[in-house]
Amino acid sequence: MAVGPSSTVVVKLGGDVLEPERIGPVAADLARARTLAGALIVVHGGGPQASALSRRLGLEPRIVGGRRITGPEDLEVVTMVVAGRLNVALVAALAAAGVSAVGLHGASGRVIRAHRRPPRVVSGAGPDPIDFGLVGDVDGFDTALLGTLTTAGHVPVLACLGCADDGTVLNINADIVASQLAAALGATALVAVSGVGGVRRDRDDPASRIARLTIAEARAAIADGTVQGGMIPKLEEAFAPLEAGVGAVHVVGPGEVSGALAAPGRVGTVLVP
Ligand SMILES: Nc1ncnc2c1ncn2[C@@H]1O[C@H](COP(=O)(O)OP(=O)(O)OP(=O)(O)O)[C@@H](O)[C@H]1O
Ligand SMILES: [Mg+2]
Repeated sequence: MAVGPSSTVVVKLGGDVLEPERIGPVAADLARARTLAGALIVVHGGGPQASALSRRLGLEPRIVGGRRITGPEDLEVVTMVVAGRLNVALVAALAAAGVSAVGLHGASGRVIRAHRRPPRVVSGAGPDPIDFGLVGDVDGFDTALLGTLTTAGHVPVLACLGCADDGTVLNINADIVASQLAAALGATALVAVSGVGGVRRDRDDPASRIARLTIAEARAAIADGTVQGGMIPKLEEAFAPLEAGVGAVHVVGPGEVSGALAAPGRVGTVLVP
């Protein structure tokens, strides 16, 4: 299905595009994207800012296979930075761009229900199971709450924290939240915005952008080490929504969401089944 007035688009923003010099143009692009889609829902991370604050507090961040190991102190940092400063900054930037955004985290109406992730083996981190600590796996979303907001003309802006049945707050990689939300909503498209702007053959060479990747090609790029770090969960987590019927997953740079929706493959990388 093409992006149009009856479509739902999920946009995931990486922490690096929420920096003060980028957030204004990013919000203006989302305002344009909103006119292309019926409903727009935003999920954001904040990896670089969480790592920077951890270091200022004397905690060394531990990131394995592009995913953060989250002890109690790391969770405090993620809560302060992602659900606090960055969520407020993004909602305010969207307001300035003429979009009524409503900031939420997973405990708001328990919009992101989760349970603690058992230790597991992950790509890019060797053969042994990794205990990620206070990290969640998504159980489900309050899609009715999101629908109430979007129908009333608001853009929900979700910080990537989940909430367990007993009220435990859990950190969840924002790409995982966005991918699973796109699948749960039957979204027309998922667009992940990252400073790197797309998948590259050589991660340091912008000219090596791969315009289009199938799931099989993406699996091969992870297996052979072309894709590393935070790009691994971004791609791996996109496979399930693509198989569940989300039409396309785009990985684009700041300001490129509306362009990707209007002309898939012209900017960034489009991942297709
Ligand atoms: N082949 C590749 N092409 C592009 N980027 C790659 C590749 N391999 C590894 N990367 C890395 O993946 C990173 C993107 O993931 P990262 O987790 O850092 O950001 P994000 O997911 O956008 O933000 P956040 O984690 O804050 O939500 C890029 O900055 C780049 O360093
Ligand atoms: Mg990431």
